[in-house]
Amino acid sequence: MKKLLLTLLTFTLILNTIAQDASRFFPDDRMLIPGAFYYPEHWPQSQWERDFKQMTEMGFEYVHMAEFAWAFLEPEEGVYTFEWLDKAVNMAAEQGLKVILCTPTATIPVWMGNKYPDVYLTDSRHMKGEHGSRQNNSLVSEKYIELSANIIHELGKRYGNNPNVWGWQLDNEPQAKDDYSPASHEAFRQWLKNKYETIEVLNHAWGAAFWSVIYSSFDEINIHNPTIIQWWGNNPHALLDFRRFTAWVQANDLDRQARILREYIKPNQFITTNYVAAINNADPRLTQELDFIAYTSYPNNGNPNLGKNGYRLGDHTALLHANDYYRPIDGVTGVLEIQPGQVNWASSNSMLLPGTVHMWLFHSLGAGARFASSYRFRQVLYGVEQYHSGMIENDGITPSQGGREYMQFIEQVKQLEQMNTDKETPAEYTAKRTAILWSHENLWDHMRQPQNNRWNIRNHTMKYHQMLKSMDVPVDYIAETDEWSNYPTLIIPAYQAVDSALVEKMKSYANDGGNLIITCRTASKNRYGHFWEAGWSAPLYNLIGAKITGYDMLPGNKQATVTMNGEDYKWNMWGDLLEPENETYSKVKYTDQFYAGKTAVTQRDFGNGTITYIGVDTQNGEMEKQILKELFEKRGHSVSNYPEGVFVYWRNGFRVAVNYSSESYTMELPANANIIFGEKDLASPGVLVWSE
Ligand code: GAL
Repeated sequence: MKKLLLTLLTFTLILNTIAQDASRFFPDDRMLIPGAFYYPEHWPQSQWERDFKQMTEMGFEYVHMAEFAWAFLEPEEGVYTFEWLDKAVNMAAEQGLKVILCTPTATIPVWMGNKYPDVYLTDSRHMKGEHGSRQNNSLVSEKYIELSANIIHELGKRYGNNPNVWGWQLDNEPQAKDDYSPASHEAFRQWLKNKYETIEVLNHAWGAAFWSVIYSSFDEINIHNPTIIQWWGNNPHALLDFRRFTAWVQANDLDRQARILREYIKPNQFITTNYVAAINNADPRLTQELDFIAYTSYPNNGNPNLGKNGYRLGDHTALLHANDYYRPIDGVTGVLEIQPGQVNWASSNSMLLPGTVHMWLFHSLGAGARFASSYRFRQVLYGVEQYHSGMIENDGITPSQGGREYMQFIEQVKQLEQMNTDKETPAEYTAKRTAILWSHENLWDHMRQPQNNRWNIRNHTMKYHQMLKSMDVPVDYIAETDEWSNYPTLIIPAYQAVDSALVEKMKSYANDGGNLIITCRTASKNRYGHFWEAGWSAPLYNLIGAKITGYDMLPGNKQATVTMNGEDYKWNMWGDLLEPENETYSKVKYTDQFYAGKTAVTQRDFGNGTITYIGVDTQNGEMEKQILKELFEKRGHSVSNYPEGVFVYWRNGFRVAVNYSSESYTMELPANANIIFGEKDLASPGVLVWSE
């Protein structure tokens, strides 16, 4: 155990990253490279060649393999059977396909758990995992670490020099799962020791005086378990540290895998992984060793979504968020899995409207994706995902509706690439570049203490993201440590935990000319998650030129009103009560409740920039949208007003519009617009591509 912990701790101390410049894997003249997920172990070898051939005929250029194949690669401990994979890689290459190989760590083989039961993770009811599914392994189990290292060494040795291997995907959809195994408890203690050094500091950080949580040594600490202690009884600081720890364990596992591969692979093979598009407990920004981050997206989740056809068009925010979140991390992203049709796990798995997959693919393309593949090429005939569609139907040869839409998309991308209209993105568009500050720590903290059970930090943030896109503004999600000055406008939504360095950074950003927008709840806590021994969100007062004297929220069935420029707007979720200082402008006021007349939004000039504090979260976001619009117009930018679910991008000299709204929408195009695909009356689902 000691050895494992030392290894884990050492990983975090290695600061030098060996990740490579991501864009070099993708030639400049290629907008997007299409591919397919294939599981040779699911099909007779006699069909492989036919399947690879069909992939090439359909226009795919890479195939992704070995993701869940550990049992086929190492059927007994130390016995490696890679011949079948050699054959599959060769056959794919003969058909002109590049190969993405995977580390198979998401599915541990039966022998491993039988021999070393500690490889399974333990859930919050103290149930240890068993064989029979995937992602049931404990990432801190010494044996898992050892045995996964062994197979990754072998894979690296065997394929690291293979010219047909384009790159590597580590594991599958890293999730940073909770693990309550004894090894996890011990690793958590060590992590805490490393972080806090003395138990007194931990007791302070966790506010352990409250309800006698207090510890006298690190050895006494157990992971606080929300299943056993009811959620409201849980110490928020202990839980936040557990989330940080779990994300750290996940990132370490990926970095560890990447380091092993790097011992063998040629520099032109990339290393990535496929995070789920919807943000969860895994924090992609914590890994150091990956070349770029890819994502997976299944937009149709069975929810009603937008308008009458929303349940067949999918969640319009899924790809919107995924691309703008993952792309800025390394400057390159792509989608490894995009839903090809019906899935088997949504609350109801309706058929997609014809054209939906095509629209999703164009959405990713428009938003900058450099590659796109689908889970999966062939629909599987058995097993857990039996009802999950593929790009090929059950007969193994007929392209499904989704498969045909991929083919259409691939053909159209080729045409765009041949047109070679690689014009610079217009300065007017880039001048509107807006960043949204995001951190997973903030998400975790909000999730534990939303204070209003309808409050959701992701929805609050997405509201801004969507209104920006409806104004035709390019958006990047960025982190505290990024360079903010590349963005003329920065939105900091409900960013609770801050320190003085972060507040100073906000100050300099605005002072140097930035258009800074801060929203409610920001700076209400320190990094431990404690309130300040001062006014509510006190560190912001000098910055925003106002005091915040309290906050309110209303039950779901009540609404209150704020007013701006003679217009009233309804709110109910959250309202900060502001007291502006002399030169600070009170832009929005509460008109009812016992605090009528108090300020809800302030604005001031600051150095060469502006600071707007939006203390109220309105029902439909129209007030916030109006404020952003004015701010952009003040800077001389024109802004559009696309309806909800219509998104427009610039990509390599083309404009790409998609429509999830359930209604058709007539795009206003400039006189010089040259329509390449689609129609000005943009159907839903629909795609319009033009150049100007
Ligand atoms: C993804 C996963 C795939 C497959 C798919 C089914 O989340 O990465 O392996 O299970 O879901 O929709």
